[in-house]
Amino acid sequence: MTEKKDELSELAAQKLVEQIRKKPNSNLGLPTGRTPKRMYQHVVRLSQEMGLDWSKVHCFALDDYLETLEDYSFQKYLEQNLYQHIDLPGTNKHNPRFHDDYDRLIDKHGGLDLTVLGIGANGHIAFNEPGTPQASYTQCIWLDEISRNSLKDGFPDASEVPTKAVTMGISTILSSKSIIMLAFGEEKKEVLKRAFGNGVDPAIPASFLVLHNNVSILTD
Ligand code: PGA
Repeated sequence: MTEKKDELSELAAQKLVEQIRKKPNSNLGLPTGRTPKRMYQHVVRLSQEMGLDWSKVHCFALDDYLETLEDYSFQKYLEQNLYQHIDLPGTNKHNPRFHDDYDRLIDKHGGLDLTVLGIGANGHIAFNEPGTPQASYTQCIWLDEISRNSLKDGFPDASEVPTKAVTMGISTILSSKSIIMLAFGEEKKEVLKRAFGNGVDPAIPASFLVLHNNVSILTD
């Protein structure tokens, strides 16, 4: 891990912790993948150091695989990287796999306050693959080959990478009051340029973020 990546992960963690301190009943949209792992380590450390109260926080996973073993699920990832280390009640852990109307559930809780995102090699945010329209809400999708290829390291064999997932939509994400995007390494450089250099283009779903007025992009 580079020093810069660690620093930016810590900055994201500080913003997340600050959000909870300011508003103890915050609703968070949470990512999985390689990128946010270090951020979660800092969130856990900071939470423990300051005795942060998570009891009123609601966490909404951005997405999850469908039709795969529970061991590979994003629910499990969030359990291992975050939930098991903080005092978040079980009823406050939400996953789109378990809800017919995730957007309504989010609204019922007062909407997302802070959403943290990564960016896929194809420009996806959550699992909104290229071509997803802005007017999209939580839905089941087919993973494209670029996404499946980047996910293969998490599976014993590339053929086991799921083909289907459920994801918050672009509108769901844009409804969040604030957004932090984390993007690290040479491999994300080109896609960041494409996403943020030329206005909105549905072929690069991350480009929809330019329509939002409170996005921080933390990149090395
Ligand atoms: P990664 O995934 O953090 O594993 O690169 C990013 C994403 O697909 O959002």
